[in-house]
Amino acid sequence: MYFENRQYIQKPPTKVSNMTQTPVRILGLSGEYRPTSKSGMMVNLALSCAESKGAEIIFWDCAEKPLPFVGEDGCWENENVKEFQTLASSCDAFFVCSPEYHGTMSGVMKNTFDWLYDKHIGGKPFGLMCTLGGMQNSNTLNHMRIMLRWLHAWPVPEQLAIGHVKDAFDEDGGAEYKSTIANSINATYNGISVQDTWEDQERYLIEDKIGKYKNHYYARYEDGKIVEVWKLDCNDVLAIVLPKAQKQYPKKKAGNAKDPRIGVTISKKEIYAVGTCILG
Ligand SMILES: Cc1cc2nc3c(=O)[nH]c(=O)nc-3n(C[C@H](O)[C@H](O)[C@H](O)COP(=O)(O)O)c2cc1C
Repeated sequence: MYFENRQYIQKPPTKVSNMTQTPVRILGLSGEYRPTSKSGMMVNLALSCAESKGAEIIFWDCAEKPLPFVGEDGCWENENVKEFQTLASSCDAFFVCSPEYHGTMSGVMKNTFDWLYDKHIGGKPFGLMCTLGGMQNSNTLNHMRIMLRWLHAWPVPEQLAIGHVKDAFDEDGGAEYKSTIANSINATYNGISVQDTWEDQERYLIEDKIGKYKNHYYARYEDGKIVEVWKLDCNDVLAIVLPKAQKQYPKKKAGNAKDPRIGVTISKKEIYAVGTCILG
């Protein structure tokens, strides 16, 4: 029948890697040049998380291996294009982050996708992210989602838009922010989920919660304006937080506390003792 072999009817994913046998292979694509760009950093953060769960990760950097514009002289014989398409075919899943330029994905991002076809990425899952100079919105994510439909790929429902992205990273990468409108500066880490053992709890705080971000910034507001900002190194934060968390741990673990999760406050005295004043 005429419709039976139509290529553009969406099919569910057919290729599923078994993580216990072969690590899932994930390719990271950025709509900005270099891993140090904001979108590059977002992709690499996602790749690092996947790597920690056992995935094999690869990042394609258009600064190192540029992809020509589709249609420009010599583009069809370009070696980078061939390598890129072979690599994409060999990967099971993709993390993508584009900056929002004029309300949509960047030209670099679109041109990267213009080199991919159903035969390279069809049926494979995509995690979508977007960075914005202004307010967070979903336009770029939606546009990428629609584009991927044309390629028969499967963007997952979860997606991430990072508005005012300049504030999300500093010179050492991702940063933690806390703010208060209290009369004295302080920083509270609350909602810390309780782990099975104190060793697990310590590891969780070091690796997933506090040590994950090198620099922690604390700000105090007065009448809607920031009047004071301090910067602390994660090791100093951990030196303060770990003993306080350890003290709370047995009660929280036993389920005898009103709030089941751990919460630790760093006082003004502690901040002033080890922090660097940025403002105020
Ligand atoms: C040509 C151009 C257009 C842009 N358009 C938008 C836009 O429509 N909305 C927005 O929030 N940011 C816009 N921005 C800011 C970028 O989203 C922001 O620069 C990007 O997320 C990456 O941050 P970075 O330049 O610090 O690496 C634009 C930037 C450029 C260069």
